[in-house]
Amino acid sequence: MKEYDLKQVIDEQSIRSRVKELARTIEADMRYCEDVVIIGILKGAFIFMADLVRHFSFPMQIDFIRIASYGTGHTSSGEIRVTKDIEVDIEGKHVLLIEDIVDTGLSLKWVMDYLKKRKPASLKVCVFIDKKERRECEVSVDYVGFEVQEGFLVGYGLDYSERHRELPGVYEVRFRNG
Ligand code: PRP
Repeated sequence: MKEYDLKQVIDEQSIRSRVKELARTIEADMRYCEDVVIIGILKGAFIFMADLVRHFSFPMQIDFIRIASYGTGHTSSGEIRVTKDIEVDIEGKHVLLIEDIVDTGLSLKWVMDYLKKRKPASLKVCVFIDKKERRECEVSVDYVGFEVQEGFLVGYGLDYSERHRELPGVYEVRFRNG
């Protein structure tokens, strides 16, 4: 593995207050919806989702989905499949999909299209980080935690080879010697 340093780009306190704000906005929009299902996209969304849902006071069901991409290991290949499906029936229910980061947008768009086939009453999307640098497709996101212009980010659920997900802040990976 190449040597690298981590440079903090979002600190823990800023995340805490932004998550609280986001939760307030979402709560105001969804509190009168019956049958809310919150779906997290594994693995990256696990920390963001856990923090967010603990601010909600309306009833909900919680579920997860996990996808994988064929080929080189990056979603730009466009070949995506479900490796862990949702287990709750979402037909006629109000779904809030939680994602850690939208980068090319391909993963999120694919999951949204996949879930829409299950006929939810509504489908809203909340992402922790919106990074537009490498966007390849249009994807509509209802709630955004932070917009970040560029960089390889880790922490708060985001990983580099499964490392650093546990960090309470967000960091940019800076490789040494270029
Ligand atoms: C990462 C991230 C998003 C996706 C974003 O997932 O969690 O799901 O890539 O990239 P995109 O917008 O270019 O499609 P990854 O496949 O690394 O899985 P992970 O959530 O388990 O880390």
